Amino acid sequence: MAILASPMKASYKMTKKKILTVIGARPQIIKAAALSRAISSQFNDQLEEILVHTGQHYDNNMSAVFFEELGIPKPHYNLAVGSGSHGQMTAAMLSGIETILIKEKPCAVVIYGDTNSTIAAALAAAKIHIPVVHIEAGLRSFHKAMPEEINRIAADHMSTLLFVPTQAGIANLSKEGFELNHKTKATIDAPNVYHCGDVMYDNTLYFAQLSDQKSRILAALELQHTAFVLCTIHRDSNTDDPVALESIFRALLALVEQTNMRVILPLHPRTRGKIQTLLNPDFQAKLSAESRIQLIEPAGFLDMIALEKNARMIVTDSGGVQKEAYFFAKPCVILREQTEWVEVVQAGAAILTGAHTEKILSAAQQLLALEIETDPAIFGDGNAASFICQKICTDI
Ligand code: UD1
Ligand code: UDP
Repeated sequence: MAILASPMKASYKMTKKKILTVIGARPQIIKAAALSRAISSQFNDQLEEILVHTGQHYDNNMSAVFFEELGIPKPHYNLAVGSGSHGQMTAAMLSGIETILIKEKPCAVVIYGDTNSTIAAALAAAKIHIPVVHIEAGLRSFHKAMPEEINRIAADHMSTLLFVPTQAGIANLSKEGFELNHKTKATIDAPNVYHCGDVMYDNTLYFAQLSDQKSRILAALELQHTAFVLCTIHRDSNTDDPVALESIFRALLALVEQTNMRVILPLHPRTRGKIQTLLNPDFQAKLSAESRIQLIEPAGFLDMIALEKNARMIVTDSGGVQKEAYFFAKPCVILREQTEWVEVVQAGAAILTGAHTEKILSAAQQLLALEIETDPAIFGDGNAASFICQKICTDI
């Protein structure tokens, strides 16, 4: 008797969905770790991920370090776009990503946040009818002079699946006409919008323990028994305007005088360059002479978590860092006029000051007098990435 191949067996074999993830800037590399982890631990039989790095960030401490310490797979492609004007970078990314999409034919393109890498990938995919999955959708600062605001609005309106970290984000999308009912299969004209929590909260929970075990930065900087302020600065509105940049550093100089706390500032390369070119030499000399303000190289994520967890206060213009301050119940001075993470301000854990010396000092004083209470559950339950993977499997 002939032995026939079992047709039943063949029909059980599941084909994996190929998704293509585009990353480029530091926070996107960190965010991608959460999804890559969920895919390899829970969705390995359903999803195959191709990673494309645009090369928007390229210094070791802005890119490679995160792949190494967060266990992110090596990118399949690196477009090595590097730095440039918005138009130059976005155009080079758009063209490079389109070529890869035509070759790889993924079921969907996954994008994060609001950078030039985000908008380039959304545009490349949507124009050739590949569904876009936007993680960190719905956030708005309502300030279109911020390049990220243009990127996030445009990316949302080209997306098929929108994963929104907060209730405020859901309300923003609803006002822009997005329907909140869920279709069995989503399309670009009838997208599905989900409130799913924040993948960065997933990551913070996951890596905080590893940071405790592995980070040596507190010892290296002799911070174990010292109250210190952690500061980051990189927004163009602060770095590219000499008045704003000097006002911020004036506030830091006054803060160390008033509190005698050290300020630890892992310096974004953009800011390092602007300090040298925009601040007058006398002011630069004054800054260098203040040993309590310590400008260090950009930190790895495990070191950054250790600094955040142990800081007395955080002063930042970063979207990610202001949220992490909240996760660790640290008071936070936000060096911006608006924020898309409105919850942290509404909770009283953070104050918006812009780049005004007096406002920064007064906010610091107010916050240092408070006991900060937080409810990180407003950012989810630490399982946003697996929720997202599940919906990618069913909705596209
Ligand atoms: C970008 C994102 C911003 C995000 C930030 C995260 C846009 C429009 N902006 O801002 O939303 O918050 O990343 O960090 O996409 N540079 C280096 N080495 C690097 C990377 C940058 O020297 O590895 C310097 C270059 O001089 C470059 C400058 O930093 O011109 C700015 O880099 P760019 O990627 O254009 O913007 P970011 O300020 O990093
Ligand atoms: N971060 C880091 N090292 C640093 C500064 C920031 O690992 O020296 C992390 C930070 O903890 C957060 C993310 O990078 O998870 C935020 O990125 P960034 O401030 O560059 O951009 P934004 O969030 O403002 O887009």
